[in-house]
Amino acid sequence: MRALEGRQISFTYPGGKPLLSQVNFSVKPGECVILRGPSGSGKTTLCHIAAGIIPRSISGDFQGEILLWGQELQGLSLAQVVQELGILMQNPDAQLFFPTVEDELAFGPENLCLPRGEIALRIAEALGAVEMSTYRLAEIETLSQGQKQRIALAAVLALRPRILILDEAFSQLDTASTAIVQGVLRRQKELGHAIFLVENGEEHLHLADRLYELRDGEVREVTL
Ligand SMILES: Nc1ncnc2c1ncn2[C@@H]1O[C@H](COP(=O)(O)OP(=O)(O)OP(=O)(O)O)[C@@H](O)[C@H]1O
Ligand SMILES: [Mg+2]
Repeated sequence: MRALEGRQISFTYPGGKPLLSQVNFSVKPGECVILRGPSGSGKTTLCHIAAGIIPRSISGDFQGEILLWGQELQGLSLAQVVQELGILMQNPDAQLFFPTVEDELAFGPENLCLPRGEIALRIAEALGAVEMSTYRLAEIETLSQGQKQRIALAAVLALRPRILILDEAFSQLDTASTAIVQGVLRRQKELGHAIFLVENGEEHLHLADRLYELRDGEVREVTL
């Protein structure tokens, strides 16, 4: 079974020209798939569609279907989706909402009404995964961009999703943070989780099992 699959995805923003045209893609369990494409080709839009943000929160003419482990995303509740799929965007500031690291990481698990002990366990585990354990009580605004991105990733990991989408999430990372995030992705693959990585840089290609290219509204698989 595919972990993540997009079937015949077409999309046009209101008043815009067609951006995606009958796009198909898939990510198997344990696989890291990279999507590359020119600026403005629709990579972020496709991430939003794969995560259900389009059409839930951003409108437009959307056709096609997204399947998570064979189940249609549209039929799942938001709580179900966030436990299956986590998305990390380019700019961590757009993804962090709380003054402290602990509040940020607690938010998702608290919304799922998990028991207190379980929430504490998940926060500790997620902070350990991104090597930020000593920053649990830190204020977000005191962190570097790389550290903020690691906290945004930890907040995603705290929900233990089996599918991760990263939209140019490496762009603001320093060397140390890049190595840590790459380590997290390798571990996720070992766990049989699926990774959909939007990256144009050659330096991340070694993470990829397969490569797609988005151009002129179409997605093509490219030989690695
Ligand atoms: N919310 C929106 N409403 C209308 N048009 C949008 C919206 N978001 C993006 N677009 C337009 O859709 C096109 C694709 O944008 P998108 O951000 O998906 O591309 P991208 O491949 O991620 O680009 P980049 O490499 O710069 O990140 C662009 O022309 C953009 O201006
Ligand atoms: Mg983008």
